[in-house]
Amino acid sequence: MKVLVVGNGGREHALAWKLLQSDKVQQVTCIPGNGGTAKLEHCRNMPMTAEDFEGIGRFALVQNFALIVIGPEAPLAHGITDYLQRQGLTVFGPTQAGAQIEASKAWAKALMQQAGIPTAASEVFTEAEAAKQYINHRGAPIVVKADGLAAGKGVTVAMTVAEAHGAVDAAFKGQFGVAGNRLVIEDYLEGQEVSVLALTDGKTIRPLLPAQDHKRIGEGDTGANTGGMGAYAPAPLVTPALMQRIQTEILEPTIATLKQEGIDYRGILYAGLMITPEGDPKVIEFNCRFGDPETQAILPLLETPLIDLLLACSNQRLADQPPIVWKEGVSACVVLASGGYPHAFQKGHPISGLSEAEVMGAIVFHAGTYLKNQELLTDGGRVLNVTAIGDTFEQALDKAYNAVRCIYFEEMYYRRDIGYRVKPANS
Ligand code: AMP
Ligand code: GLY
Repeated sequence: MKVLVVGNGGREHALAWKLLQSDKVQQVTCIPGNGGTAKLEHCRNMPMTAEDFEGIGRFALVQNFALIVIGPEAPLAHGITDYLQRQGLTVFGPTQAGAQIEASKAWAKALMQQAGIPTAASEVFTEAEAAKQYINHRGAPIVVKADGLAAGKGVTVAMTVAEAHGAVDAAFKGQFGVAGNRLVIEDYLEGQEVSVLALTDGKTIRPLLPAQDHKRIGEGDTGANTGGMGAYAPAPLVTPALMQRIQTEILEPTIATLKQEGIDYRGILYAGLMITPEGDPKVIEFNCRFGDPETQAILPLLETPLIDLLLACSNQRLADQPPIVWKEGVSACVVLASGGYPHAFQKGHPISGLSEAEVMGAIVFHAGTYLKNQELLTDGGRVLNVTAIGDTFEQALDKAYNAVRCIYFEEMYYRRDIGYRVKPANS
């Protein structure tokens, strides 16, 4: 089989790498891919954009791909799946209607209310004065969210009423473009965040191993929000009993309600959850795609061929699949970023030390890298995802950080405390 992966992040490199571990997959093509997918054996890049639906459709028909996997949310929200399905192609990723679960927080909240899913109380506003009155009434801390896709920057967790008012004014002044024309204002939830990515064919839903991300740029979870600076799996916080509750209280009712709404959802349903101090799971947000960098931590532990699972979702046969098999052990992923990220940063710096890092036993997934005349250059905010597996988190993290120390590019930045929650305090 030949498979097409759309996207250019660490998530897509991990997907291509895992797909190629099955004998059934002869070749993976990435659109547009990155330096890592360019170097991966049996993988190649095509220089097209993820938004060029017609170009992708024409290319896919000629190439006869068995499956097209869509990585990022933007093309899903813009209807790439609908377009490619109309050409008779097999796609992993929800339709435009299903992708609203990520692309409109107001829509997702309404769905959660309809399905009776535990989440923070909230209201939707299109006008500043009413939004501010609601904030005055609820008090702080309170969370102000742009309704639409804002590249992970649309959420303000406001510790004071004044800060929340400021976020309302900024959004209605156009800080997030049309994504901020509508705001969801919701109660602040306390607890620990976990990511549960689940495979679904629109009828059956099966979770992957739970993961924990590190969203803030700074050590000790300080500073600006990012796309994610590191992850590990399986998150010990999610006990089997808690996973069972997540399945029956969150994942199953969400899929049932989507189906009831006539939405044929085939792909990943990613539940961003807050586990409250009482141990209850509440939904912070849903995403319509694999998480990044959670995927880079989860997939190295997957034993079942990924192609079987993705095809079963796309062909609506997930219920026929045997239980997902995982390797023993745990995994950890450390993100290496360009200095300045998530704000302005430079690109084009040469990267060295990757073979040495791999000798240390790590898997290095590429995110913002670019292969130019056989030289690997930085090409984005998050550059590399150094992943390692081990019997314990201590082992996996040591292996990952030993590999990180082999790698160099100018202004390289990473958090030194990835996994602090799961590592013994003195190590
Ligand atoms: P979101 O894009 O909705 O995932 O929000 C980005 C980040 O803001 C989340 O990962 C949380 O860290 C934080 N956040 C969002 N909503 C809430 C909430 N209701 N309570 C506390 N923190 C939140
Ligand atoms: N790591 C967070 C996300 O993929 O949205």
